[in-house]
Amino acid sequence: MKQEISNDQMVGTAVTEKNHQENHQEIVTTDFDALAEKAMSRRGFLSTCVGIGAGAFVMGMSSSFPMSALAAHHGGKRFTFEPVAANTLDTVIVPKGYSWHVVSSWGDPLWSKGVAFDHATRGTGESQELAFGDNNDGMALFTVGDKQILAVNNEYVNLKVMFGNNESLKPVTEDDVRKCKAAHGVTIMEVTNSGGQWSVVKDSSYNRRITADSPMEITGPARGHDLLKTSEDPEGIISKGTWNNCGNGRTPWGTYLACEENFNGYFSSSDESYEISPEFKRYGIKHKDRGYGWSMTDDRFDMSKEPNEANRAGYIVEIDPADPTATPKKRTALGRFKHENAELVVADNNCVVVYLGDDERGEFLYKFVSKKRYKKNGNNSNLLEDGDLYVAKFEDGGKGEWLKLTPKTTGMKSKAEICIHTRLAASAVGATTMDRPEWVAANPTKKEVYCALTNNKNRGKKPNAGGDETPVGGPNPREVNNYGQIVRWIPARGDHTSTKFTWDLFVMAGNPTVHKDAYAGSANVNASNMFNSPDGLAFDKHGTLWIQTDGKYSNEGDFEGQGNNQMLAADPETGEIRRFMVGPRECEITGITWSEDLKTMFVGIQHPGEKGKGESSFPEGGNSVPRSSIVAITKDDGGYIG
Ligand code: FEO
Ligand code: CA
Ligand code: CA
Repeated sequence: MKQEISNDQMVGTAVTEKNHQENHQEIVTTDFDALAEKAMSRRGFLSTCVGIGAGAFVMGMSSSFPMSALAAHHGGKRFTFEPVAANTLDTVIVPKGYSWHVVSSWGDPLWSKGVAFDHATRGTGESQELAFGDNNDGMALFTVGDKQILAVNNEYVNLKVMFGNNESLKPVTEDDVRKCKAAHGVTIMEVTNSGGQWSVVKDSSYNRRITADSPMEITGPARGHDLLKTSEDPEGIISKGTWNNCGNGRTPWGTYLACEENFNGYFSSSDESYEISPEFKRYGIKHKDRGYGWSMTDDRFDMSKEPNEANRAGYIVEIDPADPTATPKKRTALGRFKHENAELVVADNNCVVVYLGDDERGEFLYKFVSKKRYKKNGNNSNLLEDGDLYVAKFEDGGKGEWLKLTPKTTGMKSKAEICIHTRLAASAVGATTMDRPEWVAANPTKKEVYCALTNNKNRGKKPNAGGDETPVGGPNPREVNNYGQIVRWIPARGDHTSTKFTWDLFVMAGNPTVHKDAYAGSANVNASNMFNSPDGLAFDKHGTLWIQTDGKYSNEGDFEGQGNNQMLAADPETGEIRRFMVGPRECEITGITWSEDLKTMFVGIQHPGEKGKGESSFPEGGNSVPRSSIVAITKDDGGYIG
């Protein structure tokens, strides 16, 4: 597709191209209903969200703004980069003075016995088992001794691209299924920086592929429960594989957390009369899978043959990236749902708190609080094995509460059952149905937490899959919400284990060039920084919030002028948002981690050219097959990124 954008147009101005597609109750005093009502007018929104933001600014400046750290790099300024314009180019665009390069792409071999990615065949089962998986998502860089180890989720596969040579655009043969399963899971690989270029260290003893077939230990309250027993594992203690790992988490004791999201789409039933239980329906299990065809070669994925297998997915998986022989652990204590990411903070009392989103329309926001406490330099390996699970209820007047899920509050028989049928438990206590909770990010410089609520076309229109109503209001203020918003909460007394919090909206995405009402977005959204569908969310050490999008890239209609998916930097003190990067066509930007010196930022480019229609050939260009990739971004003067 031809490019119609000049380089001059690339910086500072929005490029539109058709045809391409903390305790602060004193601040939050607004009545719940009035807040929602005001949010429905742009003027009203200014007086709620931005008024709250400005108040937070005053508090922030007098308390915890990390000015000294930033000053060392930026003369005290939060941002020094020039914003990047929206565009529909098939490449990565970063600000002037920054550069990027590819670290690894789908199919790149991790061992010298593997073969280079074959654009003609798009790989085999054998080549894929020795290579980086597809659709990289959440990731984290670990320092182990003098080595740099990158752990990366390979969420799912781009069927239309991976199987673009098959007429059905789906797996057909046994080897297709082998390849498909091998392209899922987690990739662990050593990376090194040589002359400013990061690359994978082939044959490193740390390199490892964890796939849909790798053994996992089931831990926590649900371990050994009848609902987890299968013919392969009659004790319900060892499951096989992890798949659809979306966002991630990391722990202060050096482990990686992979988060199982849309696990349901891999199950099918060969027996059409198999009756899907209400519990499975709540999680979206159907008679047909989403085209993966795994039941062709593996009875685990045939519901009528192995009806408990689907209860063994939908968890947080803890992996030790420093020990390639360590068995990954499914942490059932953190609940079973469509996990987005796992944002872990150590509370002042040393309990470990993990914030968790369930990404589906009208589902919930959770937190886990560990029973045992974190000990610096102690053995923390089983902290995620037991604790309390809570779900969020957003209340009137910008206040909220974490509701504990217990047999008493939920009416369920046991903690194990709560950990397996978590969505049903949360419905039973009357949690707030949300606009698809994606990543949660905790500010390292302040006691506050943010969650991307990506969008929800059903808001105010349809209940969630459990029949819970989805009324317009609170942190979900717009009916048929196509743009999304970011909610922020401050735990009472700055205590992450507290059951009370206050909240506000940090931003409502929108399009002020198309709409004049609430769909224009909040006052910190304008024609040159607008975006839709915030998804990935992470703070860097200096307290800058990075926002990644997985939205509509049509660049038309409601989305005109927003271009391809992108990454923006936000100042939590002032609310300012600046676009830092735009990705190639039909991609999603997801996954972010930094080198220890913060001089390299690693960012994930997922599913470029996802429609399989030749719109993208990222990263190689020409007639090459588009491949999900990790890129490294550096500043040309060797400075801190941002
Ligand atoms: Fe895999 Fe909710 O994104
Ligand atoms: Ca996501
Ligand atoms: Ca998303």
